[in-house]
Amino acid sequence: MKTVAPKFVCHGCGAIVDSAQQLPFACPHADDSGDVDHLLVPENGGEFATGLEQDPFLRYRRLLSPYRLARSVGLSEDAWAEFNGRLDEALAAIEGRGFRITPMTQEPDLARAAGVGASLWVKDETNNVAGSHKARHLMGIMLYLRVLAAARLPAGEGLSRRRLAIASCGNAALAAAVVARAADWSLDVFIPADAPASVVQRLKDLGAAIEICRRYGGETGDPCVRAFRRAVQKGAIPFGVQGPDNGLAIEGGRTLAFEMADAWRAAGVVPAAVYVQVGGGALASAVAQGLAIAAAQGVIPDRPRLIAVQTAGCAPLARAWEKLAGVALPEAVRHRTRFMWPWEQTPASVAHGILDDETYDWWEIAKGLRETQGGTIVVDEDALARAHALAHTHTKIDVSATGSAGFAGLLSAPPENGNLAVIFSGAER
Ligand SMILES: Cc1ncc(COP(=O)(O)O)c(C=O)c1O
Repeated sequence: MKTVAPKFVCHGCGAIVDSAQQLPFACPHADDSGDVDHLLVPENGGEFATGLEQDPFLRYRRLLSPYRLARSVGLSEDAWAEFNGRLDEALAAIEGRGFRITPMTQEPDLARAAGVGASLWVKDETNNVAGSHKARHLMGIMLYLRVLAAARLPAGEGLSRRRLAIASCGNAALAAAVVARAADWSLDVFIPADAPASVVQRLKDLGAAIEICRRYGGETGDPCVRAFRRAVQKGAIPFGVQGPDNGLAIEGGRTLAFEMADAWRAAGVVPAAVYVQVGGGALASAVAQGLAIAAAQGVIPDRPRLIAVQTAGCAPLARAWEKLAGVALPEAVRHRTRFMWPWEQTPASVAHGILDDETYDWWEIAKGLRETQGGTIVVDEDALARAHALAHTHTKIDVSATGSAGFAGLLSAPPENGNLAVIFSGAER
């Protein structure tokens, strides 16, 4: 059965991109002068899962635009299962695991230790591919590239000769390197001079080419992101986790929210709030979008309040959220730099994975905060350390300080209602 190829719509300028004809990476108007925030968002379509598949890219396939594209151009269910299955096998060969629905458990001991009553849901991403949720973003992009190639679509012309590129110093780079290796595709990684030696070694072992980007005094903005964007301008495929550079990245991350909504449906309960750590913002944007879709389809009756957590060392989203008070979001999307600009100080924190100079995906998060009556919390280093220690004492999850930063937000401002959720998004290294 053929359907229409999925379209992406820019949330800032309204540009429409047909994903069979044109790459839905950055908005085609992103470089125009002006102050519009551009991000390509897939048009909603497809029904929520009813199957029992354990691989999220199979189970939630109908909600993913690469799958809908595949079906719209005549590729079969089996073809999708094959692209996904081959990548899954290669991932398993590289590091012993492919994508499986990750556990979400109630953690009463942790809830008691945090003083928030008995019901605290913890979604555990520490055993996901490459040790964090990041690979979900990249799998979404890779599946799209596979569909383009298999169906020989116009958007895919010449793509196989282009290298993949990402800017990151940690989990995202590792995830990109694992997925790129599984797909046998060359990858350039732009990393800072202080990237941990163990990460650099693993990237090299996975065959990634590394470029070190130094930060010079007086400069604001991330030099790695600048170098990555230059590489993309010269023809690299944006294989990163910032939505404005690749709309598909956010879509892949939505699978995390779909899994959470599915688990709450099965339990017959929805938490009052979900606390999400925010760096570049792709994770919280994906969670906000995914839960909105689940609620719109009646999977959950209401959405939890979205609480975005940043560190005092770097809090550009919290700054933007304050400035957004009383401003209509459709107005704000046309005036990006009034709300979002690089953090002026060189960021530092034990939660180093959320030190992005800018919250690139700020607007979709702000929308989620508005729609759910949520807000932002800025945590100090003591709260981050306490959250990390409590997570290790009261759960069996080997989470990193970045991965438990959302929980630090909950500790800093514990609400009265004890039915809450956090995401332990990455493993200790
Ligand atoms: C473990 C972990 N959690 C959360 C984040 C934050 O995600 P985002 O940059 O999408 O806000 C990161 C980013 O590196 C991370 O490594």
